[in-house]
Amino acid sequence: MRFEKELSGWENGSKHNPIWVNAPARINLIGEHTDYNYGFVLPAAIDKVAYFLIQLREDNHCKVEAKDIGDHLIFDFQDDLKPSAKNWQNYFLGVMHYMKSSGKVKQGFNLVFESDIPTGAGMSSSAALACGFGMAINEAYQLGLSKQEIAEIAQLAEHHFVGVKCGIMDQYACMFGMEGHALKLDCRTFQYQYQKIQLDDYQLVLIDSKVKHELTSTEYNKRREECERVVSIFKKQDPAIATLRDVTQEHLANFGKVLDSVAFKRCDYVINENRRVVEACQALHANDLQLFGALMYQSHKGLAHDYEVSCKELDFLVDAARQSGHIIGSRMMGGGFGGCTLNIIAQPNAQEVVNSILSSYKEKMGRDGESYFIEIKEGCKILDSGA
Ligand code: GLA
Repeated sequence: MRFEKELSGWENGSKHNPIWVNAPARINLIGEHTDYNYGFVLPAAIDKVAYFLIQLREDNHCKVEAKDIGDHLIFDFQDDLKPSAKNWQNYFLGVMHYMKSSGKVKQGFNLVFESDIPTGAGMSSSAALACGFGMAINEAYQLGLSKQEIAEIAQLAEHHFVGVKCGIMDQYACMFGMEGHALKLDCRTFQYQYQKIQLDDYQLVLIDSKVKHELTSTEYNKRREECERVVSIFKKQDPAIATLRDVTQEHLANFGKVLDSVAFKRCDYVINENRRVVEACQALHANDLQLFGALMYQSHKGLAHDYEVSCKELDFLVDAARQSGHIIGSRMMGGGFGGCTLNIIAQPNAQEVVNSILSSYKEKMGRDGESYFIEIKEGCKILDSGA
């Protein structure tokens, strides 16, 4: 049983039941940097998972053990919780800060977690931490929060404790993921539909550039500000425009001359990416994977040239995918500046094709990449036991 040793070391004979929670990583098939512009995204939960075990204590102490890195965090639930210099701790401090405001938290807990989600790979290991912990706290203290509320608290923790002004895509995918399906989410209304992902003779593979995206938080927040600036300019022309989602190609053609060239490119990218998500879903309905893949390549082009969140290593991997002749769609995924490309690859000899891309990556970029063949699985859930 997972965490057997930790559990046996905690209060023996505790009257509180231990609770196990699994929280998955996510991929995003298409719709990048559209969530905080209130547009469309198409993410899915996958079979890379963070595992949690929590048990309430009788006193006020809260102890979080990060098993993978051999570190821990201890606080009193009544403390005024503030961000820590250790980034991993901020997901826990932030979620606890918002959850305890319910007034229903009356005692501490022991919690241990470990994860097989690569960090810094654009798979949102962070949302898995915040959502998994949120679900564990919700269950342990019987807070009665909905999945949507847990997702929003996880996002708040990321904004105010971690310092990244992320959208809601990652938390939504983690909380609402469904096996074999992606989630077409409208980030303005929070309405979503499950979209079956039927790949037949193809499969999904992530190719990790192993470039860690340190730039993400600063550049990410900058992109968000750039988009908000465009909205404030367009609003003066048309008061009905509240977000970049409301801006059309027609607006851009009519009022675009008031934008500088960078703002113009950002705006053009977001309009096109929202359109691509809609077209990609239509392609899935029509079982047209080739069109879906072509839209992924276009998305990457926009991210690299207009939104400028790619890097030479990711561009190399996408080019290599195209040249392989076996990969019908490839794009960078997540915040950018490193991490993985998502690829739809033909099944026969998929591993050989990926190996050959990785060896030319090593030769030309001087880095060891890595590949993860992945499956779409269900979202965050409480398990009966850790068995
Ligand atoms: C990160 C953020 C998401 C989203 C993506 C880009 O993963 O957490 O909210 O903005 O980047 O699509």
